[in-house]
Amino acid sequence: MKTLVAALLMGIALPAYADTPAQILDRLQTEAGTTASRERGKQLYHGKFRGGKTESCATCHTVNPQEAGRHARTNKTIEPLAPSANRERFTDPEKVEKWFKRNCNDVLSRSCTAREKADFAAYVIAQ
Ligand code: HEC
Repeated sequence: MKTLVAALLMGIALPAYADTPAQILDRLQTEAGTTASRERGKQLYHGKFRGGKTESCATCHTVNPQEAGRHARTNKTIEPLAPSANRERFTDPEKVEKWFKRNCNDVLSRSCTAREKADFAAYVIAQ
């Protein structure tokens, strides 16, 4: 029993598993219950929305996901979103979820649906 508890505690202390972008996309597609569409993801990435704090995802992430962006309000540099230009992207499911939550709220004034997340990821990962 003690060994089991110790093993569990060690497991909890380990850093989050690094996934590949393909694995993260797979999971998002499973959650969405459908195959992601790069075309719809592209529209979400570049679309201009009214009513949110920021007009579009591209406002901060630039029109090219492979380029470094700039935060629309704080002016801080944002590393490129495309895994082809930044290998840390879409490798940590918790980070992906955290930023989807924050940024979808910022632009759409609501959470993104599971399908929107899968579409967005499919588009960005393919860049
Ligand atoms: C106000 C600026 C801003 C806007 C608008 C914005 N983002 Fe982001 N986004 C950020 C910042 C800042 C980070 C994290 C910075 C970092 O990790 O370097 C980030 C990171 C992300 C990540 C994390 C990817 C990873 O694996 O590291 C995702 C996913 C994401 N954004 C999706 C979106 C989507 C979808 C939209 C549009 C609905 C959007 N963002 C609009 C600022 C923005």
